Amino acid sequence: MLISSPFEALEILVLGSLMGRQGSPRSPRPGIQKPSLSSGCDPPPLGRRVPGGEWNKSAPTSGSKSEPAKVCVKGVYAGKRQNWLHRHLRTIVFTLGWIGLMFVFDSCMVSIVKYTLISKNASLPRESSESKEDGGINGGDRKPVIEMYSQLVNSASASLAKKVFEEEPASLWEEPYREASQWKPCAHRTLPSNHEEGNAGESNGYIIVSANGGLNQQRVAICNAVAVASLLNATLVLPRFLYSNVWKDPSQFGDIYQEECFVKTLEDDIEIVKELPPALRFLNIEAIGSQITDADLDKEAKPVDYIRTVLPLLLKNGVVHFLGFGNRLGFDPLPFHLQRLRCKCNFHALKFTPKIQKVGALLVSRIRKFKAARSTMIDKQLLGNYAPIRNSLSPDGETSRYLALHLRFEEDMVAYSQCEFGGGESERKELQAYRESHFPLLMERLKNSKQVSPTELRMLGRCPLTPEEAALVLAGLGFKRSTHIYLAGSQVYGGESRMRPLTGLYPNLVTKETLLTPSELSPFRNFSSQLAALDFIVCATADVFAMTDSGSQLSSLVSGFRAYYGGGQAPTLRPNKKRLAAIMSENNTMDWNNFKYRVRKMIEEGQKVRARKFGRSIYRQPRCPECMCKSYY
Ligand SMILES: *[C@@H]1O[C@H](CO)[C@@H](O)[C@H](O)[C@H]1NC(C)=O
Ligand SMILES: *[C@@H]1O[C@H](CO)[C@@H](O)[C@H](O)[C@H]1NC(C)=O
Ligand SMILES: *[C@@H]1O[C@H](CO)[C@@H](O)[C@H](O)[C@H]1NC(C)=O
Repeated sequence: MLISSPFEALEILVLGSLMGRQGSPRSPRPGIQKPSLSSGCDPPPLGRRVPGGEWNKSAPTSGSKSEPAKVCVKGVYAGKRQNWLHRHLRTIVFTLGWIGLMFVFDSCMVSIVKYTLISKNASLPRESSESKEDGGINGGDRKPVIEMYSQLVNSASASLAKKVFEEEPASLWEEPYREASQWKPCAHRTLPSNHEEGNAGESNGYIIVSANGGLNQQRVAICNAVAVASLLNATLVLPRFLYSNVWKDPSQFGDIYQEECFVKTLEDDIEIVKELPPALRFLNIEAIGSQITDADLDKEAKPVDYIRTVLPLLLKNGVVHFLGFGNRLGFDPLPFHLQRLRCKCNFHALKFTPKIQKVGALLVSRIRKFKAARSTMIDKQLLGNYAPIRNSLSPDGETSRYLALHLRFEEDMVAYSQCEFGGGESERKELQAYRESHFPLLMERLKNSKQVSPTELRMLGRCPLTPEEAALVLAGLGFKRSTHIYLAGSQVYGGESRMRPLTGLYPNLVTKETLLTPSELSPFRNFSSQLAALDFIVCATADVFAMTDSGSQLSSLVSGFRAYYGGGQAPTLRPNKKRLAAIMSENNTMDWNNFKYRVRKMIEEGQKVRARKFGRSIYRQPRCPECMCKSYY
């Protein structure tokens, strides 16, 4: 037992019984945990607002702490009063009494601990949601919790309950492979060859790009456009963002990125202007045939395609407009200097505006309780002058690491996948209806092709991870129940009933909505790209970043950022969906130790440090000579 004084044990015992069934599983925590975890700072569960942005510091037990203890001690005295005359005997009896009492305490403690384990084991998800209901949030529509792996979830919560008393292995928060720290940021260095191959000569005309998609897709489009401008010796007009009905965000480049910084960082490489010169400004670009849509270029076009299709238009009309411009420039083959330029654009030229940096820094400091991360390079890149100052400890001196989790379990992802997620017939119908109304093309394609069963899809690794699966992976790796988790993204399909397996195992879950006050959040409310920028910041600066879908742009760009600036100290967890499906297919028969072992192996496999392979994204995998320098030691 880690009880330092009998009084602590007494308090725990008494409080435990006073608080009854609801309270007792939690009551051992104040006395037994390490001091660093016992300050009563229970971060709010999902959906509960943090007053003033600080962790919820209310400790319901602190007020009543001393009194019940006194009552109990008095009781002990009362029983001994009749021996009052035998003064010398009294001490002996009292001592014996204390020893006996300590035995009682000890056995009570053991039973409390056991009870905690059992009750957590049996009903944790439901219980934690009840406590959430106390907060008056989401009280109305209670749907049953959807669990696909009850047995594993039970094992996980038993294991986490046991771990409350254990020290977490430090390796959990570190990158397992030392080679990760050999790679250093290098895309910004000036090579003599830049000047030869750069735009030393005359400009061939102007390139306009109107990027589509959300924040991260736009980022890729911008940097691809920068590379194309260099390739064609063109002048780039400051990128524009297309308004989309999906993202509903009118933000333009200058609302998200610092324009000056963009122009200045790239000035040695390409010329960038704010607007077209007056002579070209009122030209109907589409009418003169200089508008290039995604239909005009292959998906991952090669430089030669640009020379062949785009350059003639540029030379003829003096201007070319790329409309959309998603993944229109392939990764390989591409000349070294263009690849490098793309990296420079992504990692050095795109800095968020002070408005975003400021609130991003606020979020980060609230999660960390004002303690800076180990890797301040990421902070500096993303937060500029707002980066928290190293060693500015939280008031209680507590270290507060956090894990950022990017779930991709939105309804469209879920429906599109055609997988099943344990929600039975009603879920199947709901998703089918969603597909019919949102994905007519997919439905058309399905009609004409061979059906693949949901089970097969799962085994192929095609199913988005549920919150439950994400929680099991984290528990399998050994993250403690008290881990602070920042949840990026939003709109989990199924809402509460889907989230409960996750919040049950990891109650310290926060989002930007719970960390910021409504007035802090309101300048961002109608700007989904700016909100996404906040998520980007908090994910990139996290001590550990866990993704569930490596195909997602946010996850992919964030992991690239961490590889580039993290100095080998910014681990990213990237579950392999196919391997996880194989592990999960044995969910009913596998014991917890075996599960842990296999999950750890899978994650470690994904953390291996390799140089970028041919054709792979430099945004996700910047470990290549064009972007990073490798040092040997
Ligand atoms: C761009 O300029 C460089 C050097 O001035 C030249 O070698 C190259 O051929 C030019 N490329 C195009 C597409 O004009
Ligand atoms: C956001 O947009 C809605 C309608 O689209 C509007 O009613 C609301 O006032 C806007 N909020 C802010 C903070 O601009
Ligand atoms: C969980 O285990 C059961 C029984 O072994 C199996 O039928 C089921 O397919 C598994 N679930 C998943 C999602 O793999």
